Amino acid sequence: MWRIARDSGTLDLNTSYAYLLMARDFAATTRLAVREGEAVGFVLGYLRPSAPQTLFIWQIAVDESQRGQRLAARLLDALLADLPQVATLETTITADNAASQRLFASFAERHGAEHAIESLFAEAHFPDPGHGAELLHVISGLHAGT
Ligand SMILES: CC(C)(COP(=O)(O)OP(=O)(O)OC[C@H]1O[C@@H](n2cnc3c(N)ncnc32)[C@H](O)[C@@H]1OP(=O)(O)O)[C@@H](O)C(=O)NCCC(=O)NCCS
Repeated sequence: MWRIARDSGTLDLNTSYAYLLMARDFAATTRLAVREGEAVGFVLGYLRPSAPQTLFIWQIAVDESQRGQRLAARLLDALLADLPQVATLETTITADNAASQRLFASFAERHGAEHAIESLFAEAHFPDPGHGAELLHVISGLHAGT
């Protein structure tokens, strides 16, 4: 996950230790895509402690060589299918990330869910320079028919 995030070109790179900790403690809400023995994509999430029916997607990425093959869409669908208690999915996306915006809009459409966008972290909240504002995408009404 650390390698894929490093090479993604857009994601904030966390320490390798952070990915190992997340994999240990949040394995139930994390998925890795493996092709020919190589990790080529991942989705890393957690259930919000104050709202355990809400799955927060921290990061999702697919190796550049494997993009456009619905890997990210399938990672999200697989995760949701394994978490029947989840009614809401949240993630944050910067305004310039068209691929990620489409990925989550398409996910919401596929699952017949509501999709709302609001501000969460403004540029001024980030101590490191050059970090764009993160908009909160709230996709609700998941598993409504099950
Ligand atoms: C965002 C990302 C994970 C998408 O992975 P992917 O496997 O190529 O996406 P998929 O093939 O599953 O496509 C899912 C949807 O997004 C759309 N999409 C994918 N890449 C796109 C792009 N560059 N521009 C516009 N739409 C795009 C697809 O057309 C598809 O839409 P549809 O369901 O309406 O047909 C990948 O581009 C990536 O790793 N980007 C860098 C990391 C990143 O920005 N992560 C998100 C922020 S946390």
